[in-house]
Amino acid sequence: LHAVVGRHPGAAVRRDDIALVPLTDRRKDLSPMSKPRILVARNIFPEVVERLSQHFEVESNPQDVVWTPAELAQKLADKDGALTTGSQRVDAALLAAAPRLRIVANMAVGYNNFDVDAMTAAGVQGTNTPDVLTETTADFGFALLMATARRMAESEHYLRAGQWTKWSYDLFAGTEVHGSTLGILGMGRIGQGIAKRGAHGFGMNVVYHNRSRLTPELEAECKARYVSKEELLRTADHLVLVLPYTPASHHAIGAAEIAQMKPTANLINIARGGIVDDAALAQALKDRRIAAAGLDVFEGEPAVHPELLTVPNVVLTPHIASATVPTRLAMANLAADNLVAFFEGRGPLTPVNTPAGKRA
Ligand code: DGY
Repeated sequence: LHAVVGRHPGAAVRRDDIALVPLTDRRKDLSPMSKPRILVARNIFPEVVERLSQHFEVESNPQDVVWTPAELAQKLADKDGALTTGSQRVDAALLAAAPRLRIVANMAVGYNNFDVDAMTAAGVQGTNTPDVLTETTADFGFALLMATARRMAESEHYLRAGQWTKWSYDLFAGTEVHGSTLGILGMGRIGQGIAKRGAHGFGMNVVYHNRSRLTPELEAECKARYVSKEELLRTADHLVLVLPYTPASHHAIGAAEIAQMKPTANLINIARGGIVDDAALAQALKDRRIAAAGLDVFEGEPAVHPELLTVPNVVLTPHIASATVPTRLAMANLAADNLVAFFEGRGPLTPVNTPAGKRA
């Protein structure tokens, strides 16, 4: 009303003030303040886009085009917020091209696609989707461990190819899961979920290495023992990677680390491509330096190192560890909730940074 009648904020509005404005103009001017503009950068659940549309002017991407950085910059030029997935890089160049952008809500727990320092310096809030995917992702980590140890993909291909003609004592004989040593590199919520599955469900001896040691209570809950990275590599029968991808964890597992592992060991990566040197791993699998690997994430995905496609002793899945319908819906809803809470002035629910200042 202030805008309609030109009064100072807080002044009482009289009926007469409104009547001074022609009806058509007044309707226009009385319309609710324009909604923030949001870009939904990939195709997501239509019901979540619909929910966002109740709060925002939404540009979505139902064709699920993976925009180039230049296309994304152009789309964000007039946006106040964005919902992204891991496939959109948010860096200083993008932020410079998006002067109105105040928040980017990632539909993923990992946010290595964010240049967090650049976002913080530019006053842009980042959020992620922790917790809602923990158990589902831990389920998948364990499934991939078992599929790798028990050679499920390799034996299925053999059967489908019509090569199965008789039972034999050593046909696809794999490595033991129950009672073996489960090593976990990165002991956050998902790592702890995998540890509990191994210790309580399969009687595994669990060892872990992490930047910081868990509390004695959590170690007891997970039945997990803290060890050095060297001991972890040396003793694990199944080594599961669940650490975040940062410059410090780039190629945390390369030829030198693989050389320290048991020749009978399996390596499972559900964290991020780039943590493993895929070329070194492919060579090690070819040379049977370790028994097998299970990989859900790849350096430069969706491209996969060509050598990994030719070796039989690897189970390959297309970054699906959190992919159940309820969990992906919960992730999309949490990303949306972050946008709504932020623009309602309630603050983000699951922030990954504390921006220095506010963008206008
Ligand atoms: C995550 O949440 O980080 C998963 O890897 C999906 O991208």
